[in-house]
Amino acid sequence: MAQVLKEKIAALDKLAPGVFKMTLKSEIIAQTALPGQFVNVKCSEGLNALLRRPISICNVDRDSNTFDIVFQIKGIGTEYLSQKKVGSEVDIIGPLGNPFRVEGEFKKIAVVGGGIGIFPLLNLLKASSAEHKDAFLGFRNKELIVLEEEFTQASDQLFISTDDGSAGHKGLITDLFINEIDKKKYDIVYTCGPTPMIKKVVEIAHKNNIRCQVSLEQRMGCGIGACLVCACKTRLGDEWEYSHVCKDGPVFWSNEVIFD
Ligand SMILES: Cc1cc2nc3c(=O)[nH]c(=O)nc-3n(C[C@H](O)[C@H](O)[C@H](O)COP(=O)(O)OP(=O)(O)OC[C@H]3O[C@@H](n4cnc5c(N)ncnc54)[C@H](O)[C@@H]3O)c2cc1C
Ligand code: FES
Repeated sequence: MAQVLKEKIAALDKLAPGVFKMTLKSEIIAQTALPGQFVNVKCSEGLNALLRRPISICNVDRDSNTFDIVFQIKGIGTEYLSQKKVGSEVDIIGPLGNPFRVEGEFKKIAVVGGGIGIFPLLNLLKASSAEHKDAFLGFRNKELIVLEEEFTQASDQLFISTDDGSAGHKGLITDLFINEIDKKKYDIVYTCGPTPMIKKVVEIAHKNNIRCQVSLEQRMGCGIGACLVCACKTRLGDEWEYSHVCKDGPVFWSNEVIFD
């Protein structure tokens, strides 16, 4: 169950321009968090960045009781977070959200991530006991490629694309995913990243009868299901309803979500 915690920063490293990895000491998160879950972080003590910011749990280390979050500076909240000092405490609520389904029935899996959407997928790959795991990661350019070593270790094959061709395939990561589908016959694909990428992955998965789970990174307000800032449309029989990404997600089955 999610708890309000004050946890100590064990390390804070810059991985790429504007991208930071923060390691937090937390027995509760390290021992209980499931892949796909996130923490809601209070980035500043003052009136600035009043609302908590949701950040995915990227990695857990049960032996050392630590977990990692990796974040890209987007605005004031993540800027404040990047300026925290090692040894100081961060106020977080977690672990939050519905996790990815990683149980044993899925033997061949693929993850497709773009930008900040790659972070929850590392924890998923590590938690999955699938026989074959492929990772498809898309970045804007070579400078922004992070966690390559970690994804290489956690997967059987890693595919990388960049928008400008400065590393890996030039173009969309979904191009590489389509190429592998016939050869690999995945049982499930998990995806997280920009909405156009998620829509494309879902389209490919449905066309090829592959099960698919999506993790949505909607903007959030309250983070507890009370404000509707994070609303997304989901199917309810022949009708539709609004679901809360913070409470009902962030992970959904692809056929539950209605993308406008
Ligand atoms: C479940 C979940 C998990 C997330 N995991 C991560 C993660 O692991 N690493 C990470 O870097 N980010 C993650 N995000 C996104 C992160 O929460 C936002 O980037 C952050 O809240 C921005 O706060 P800010 O104060 O820095 O920017 P703000 O000042 O609030 O906003 C600045 C700009 O950032 C953009 N922005 C704000 N929120 C989002 C969002 N949710 N998605 C995309 N763009 C946004 C908007 O364009 C906005 O104009 C996650 C979001 C969700 C919902
Ligand atoms: S963030 Fe307020 S309902 Fe989800």
